Amino acid sequence: MVEFTLPKNSKVTQGKVWPAPPQARELREYRIYRWNPDDGHNPRLDTYHVDLGDCGPMVLDGLIWIKNKIDPTLTFRRSCRESVCGSCAMNIDGTNTLACTKDMKDIKGEVKIYPLPHMPVVKDLVPDLTNFYAQQASIQPWLQTTSVTPEKEWKQSHDDRVKLDGLYECIMCACCSTSCPSYWWNSDRYLGPAALLQSYRWIIDSRDEATGDRLDNLEDPFRLYRCHTIMNCAKACPKGLNPALAIAEIKKLMVERKA
Ligand code: SF4
Ligand code: SF4
Ligand code: FES
Repeated sequence: MVEFTLPKNSKVTQGKVWPAPPQARELREYRIYRWNPDDGHNPRLDTYHVDLGDCGPMVLDGLIWIKNKIDPTLTFRRSCRESVCGSCAMNIDGTNTLACTKDMKDIKGEVKIYPLPHMPVVKDLVPDLTNFYAQQASIQPWLQTTSVTPEKEWKQSHDDRVKLDGLYECIMCACCSTSCPSYWWNSDRYLGPAALLQSYRWIIDSRDEATGDRLDNLEDPFRLYRCHTIMNCAKACPKGLNPALAIAEIKKLMVERKA
């Protein structure tokens, strides 16, 4: 019988337990994935104790507190702290989400944090998003026109503008794509829910005049059609968007244009 085991150097080991701050009255335990490409060691789970009396309520507040007060080597991305930049996406308590809007109170027990799944890791909680961004770029997410450029602006009716709701809000955090099993196995060829939602946003923009080319670019057994409507993407999106629906709409347009 075939036996599947993880390569030895990928196994996550028990890491350091950092001492709790002595004066703290209310503590929250964090278990955080650590990996440093330079030290040659396996990944490990370090344990920290966050002083809730000295720290904000969100998971990101806890991470920043740990970095400032306990362990400056802890590495993660963050910028806006208000779910706008998408950079603090990570796997928290088993779910891909944004650390800045995840309330510690909504997590039972210790706060377990890993990097976004199925991506190469740069260091600790920082995934390598090179391929993800290249895929976003490949769908050419900007307005494309052939008509003469108007003097002032490209106009859009109110109704056409409303069609972009639920799409334009995407912050490219990658929570959806990294929760999609089809993307895990085929991320080199399948564009994944984030890029496809973005693609649909431009396909249905009434001002864009490259719709045919955009659909041609997706007419491929992998780029679009690896979506099997598993819906993990919609469940994971911290902005409440539904990439699976956008993908279904693209597939519909593909059929319609052949009819
Ligand atoms: S619906 Fe499609 S894109 Fe979304 S998780 Fe499932 S397979 Fe992936
Ligand atoms: S659709 Fe949602 S989960 Fe996916 S990249 Fe955009 S904001 Fe993030
Ligand atoms: S820090 Fe910008 S989305 Fe969380």
